[in-house]
Amino acid sequence: MTSSPSIQTIVLAAGLGTRMRSETIKVLHPILGKPMIGHVVEAALESGCQRVISVLGHQREDVEGWLDERSYADQLHVAEQSEQLGTAHAVWAARQFLDSQTDYTAILCGDVPNMDGARLRAFFDAAVDSEALVSLVTAVVDDPAKYGRIVRGEAGSVEAIVEYADASDEVRKISEINAGIYLVRTDFLANALSTIMESGADNAQSEYYLTDLIALGAREGGVFGWAVDDPAVIQGVNTRVDLARATDVTRRRINEEWMLQGVTFIDPTQTYVETGVELARDVVIYPGVYLGGETTVGEGSIVESGCVLKDSAIGADVHLKANSYLTQARVDDGSAIGPCAHLRPGSDIGKGCKVGNFVEVKKTRLDDGAKAGHLTYLGDAHVGPGANVGAGTITCNYDGETKSRTEIGAEAFIGSNTALVAPVSVGRQAYVGAGSVITDDLPDRSLGVARGRQRTIEDWVDRDDEE
Ligand code: UD1
Ligand code: CA
Repeated sequence: MTSSPSIQTIVLAAGLGTRMRSETIKVLHPILGKPMIGHVVEAALESGCQRVISVLGHQREDVEGWLDERSYADQLHVAEQSEQLGTAHAVWAARQFLDSQTDYTAILCGDVPNMDGARLRAFFDAAVDSEALVSLVTAVVDDPAKYGRIVRGEAGSVEAIVEYADASDEVRKISEINAGIYLVRTDFLANALSTIMESGADNAQSEYYLTDLIALGAREGGVFGWAVDDPAVIQGVNTRVDLARATDVTRRRINEEWMLQGVTFIDPTQTYVETGVELARDVVIYPGVYLGGETTVGEGSIVESGCVLKDSAIGADVHLKANSYLTQARVDDGSAIGPCAHLRPGSDIGKGCKVGNFVEVKKTRLDDGAKAGHLTYLGDAHVGPGANVGAGTITCNYDGETKSRTEIGAEAFIGSNTALVAPVSVGRQAYVGAGSVITDDLPDRSLGVARGRQRTIEDWVDRDDEE
């Protein structure tokens, strides 16, 4: 048995992507939380490639900045293509980064984001088995649009790719298209590239076409076309319409993976889980949920419709009721949140807590068993274990200049419609009467009442009648 051949990958991503009509370069547009180029680079690494060379031009610093922050950044290289003269010219721009000792060079497009690692691997394996000089992924599609067309000879072997702009009406009728994904023998690539670059960009778009590689390979009898099982995964993104279609494909793949891991989606077509999210077994997700960033959800938790979570850590058996919005929040096991709760950054909810409807929390810790059931704002506060915060309680944490803290002791009881004017503390097991404005610290087990006394005027309704 021979050892598996070595593969290096080039990702083409220098173009602006004019048809996106955006300030942002095409390959930086995110699909479920990750820029398109990230999907492509990670698929290459998952397929077993050792090094990935990205060809960058427009907004190079932004793309490179994103790549540099990855945990796998040491496997990445960047080649600059300052002027975009075509896909062959882009590969040419990367030539000094190519290791001639590496058996194969894969070439991927930064705007084809759904060819996953497992499929790439299957393509590479088949391509290596075929012993071809150059292999490419093709697909037979209903609408070949402006993709390059695959021209096959009488024996069925691939002879050339003809770009849409250069194609005759006859060739445009061909429904087998070029996905823009190639595996090329590194020694053949070096020679073929020189030939393309020397020939001049003599075609309808005056570009150096990488697709000319195929005719060159065919002349030497060595092209292998690999038809992908699902044409949806090789759809290129050129417009926002394509972007939405590609997102659909990514969403489907992510959700199916989680379902196979034991997560229930009541309607996976209406549920969005970004690539950085982790879900445990027996999580149940209702339709219309968006889980983003580095969010984690623990075993047995329920996320109801309309919830949006970003970078939040949810424990086990948590119930997130409808329309709750969580950002950089933590919720520990067995707590219930919402409906319509807003947990802002620094919200840290302990075990068995209840945060009810129209409650907003920011930079606040609720210890185990604490409750804030209704219409409350808790900012820069600490609520002790088992404390009960009544409806309409507000921590007045901001005096117009500085933020101050509120401390609520264990098992304290805050009456409804209380204003806690920070900095202030309520002792353990202390009580606050409803409607109070608390400005002074309350000792443990005390009662604080701070409101006008009630005046009762008897027979007030009848007062005019008595004149
Ligand atoms: C290309 C293929 C076409 C194929 C399609 C698949 C060529 C000539 N055509 O067409 O056969 O069906 O992909 O999606 O290769 N790029 C650079 N530098 C350049 C030009 C392009 O880096 O000078 C990058 C782009 O940023 C993009 C990728 O290469 O990420 C593909 O380029 P694009 O212009 O979108 O090619 P298509 O017209 O889609
Ligand atoms: Ca394209």
